[in-house]
Amino acid sequence: TERVLTGITTTGTPHLGNYVGAIRPAIEASRQPGVESFFFLADYHALIKCDEPARIERSRLEIAATWIAGGLDTDRATFYRQSDIPETTELTWLLTCVCAKGLMNRAHAYKAATDANTAAGEDPDAGITMGLFSYPVLMAADILLFNAHRVPVGRDQVQHIEMARDMAQRFNHLFGQGRELFVLPRAEIDEELATLPGLDGRKMSKSYDNTVPLFEGGSKGLKEAVARIVTDSRLPGEPKEPEGAALVTIHDAFASAAQRSAFHADLRAGLGWGEAKQRLVALIEDHIAPLRARYADLMAHPERIEEVLQHGAAKARKVATPFLAELRHAVGLRPMV
Ligand code: TYM
Repeated sequence: TERVLTGITTTGTPHLGNYVGAIRPAIEASRQPGVESFFFLADYHALIKCDEPARIERSRLEIAATWIAGGLDTDRATFYRQSDIPETTELTWLLTCVCAKGLMNRAHAYKAATDANTAAGEDPDAGITMGLFSYPVLMAADILLFNAHRVPVGRDQVQHIEMARDMAQRFNHLFGQGRELFVLPRAEIDEELATLPGLDGRKMSKSYDNTVPLFEGGSKGLKEAVARIVTDSRLPGEPKEPEGAALVTIHDAFASAAQRSAFHADLRAGLGWGEAKQRLVALIEDHIAPLRARYADLMAHPERIEEVLQHGAAKARKVATPFLAELRHAVGLRPMV
């Protein structure tokens, strides 16, 4: 069997980028024969950028409800909260001790933060926590604890998975005694969907405030968000270039091959952006309206979500606890009493 694993940080409302880049491909992968899947709510990661407990709680519920509404079979997959698996933080320490500091210096979230500080004439490390700096080690622990082979993610996470491979290799070399303690994971990305653009054409991201929420705000919210997608100023009747337009990329993430080519041809023939937006809303609605109803139902019953997550945590720990014991032994620590 092959293991597939992925997580989402619980700091905001799920958006189309999370759905198209991670949740939808992960659910599809989990249905393949011979696949064992592990999907989780990354709430330890959330603490890195969020110090509002209520927001983390809310986001955790919303993201959990999204996975279930999206069709995840929670009996077959192992679906859990990262913070219910304390083995994760212990493995983080074991990996921290083999991870080169220079590797972390190159992590793009950290680099972006120091570059911004430098550009502003401040101390490069101003306001940067150790959590942000060593974020990729925690993520490596998530992946390696379950010996995942495949990690479906958007492009922004690929570097972190390569770093996890690095740490796995180093650990295997130091402590494996010729055995592969850790599987070397690989990122699984869909080239076309790996970076879904947001309202302003940059990557759709909570931090850019340019997202189209998946469910929040209902169909009215979806219409309003789509209305704000930036387009060029060509008028109805003027031919438009579909390649590279954010609206078209978002459209294509939900469209069949036939729908795509029809949409592109109509734009080239002068379809107005206003009408194109109406078609986009209708297309997304077709896909997510049924999910939205299930989502609303789940959000009204948080106790059902809690039950699923507790069941998932127990399943995950059945794998994590014995494996961590093996790793402790490999590095020379005593079994836990
Ligand atoms: P996060 O919460 O920022 O994003 C969750 C997933 O959504 C993908 N994504 C996108 N894909 C395409 N286009 C976009 N505009 C877009 N925006 C977000 C992300 O690539 C990601 O796959 N560190 C991770 C969470 C994490 C994790 C892990 C992932 C923690 N441990 C272990 C995989 C394995 C994060 O913050 O993702």
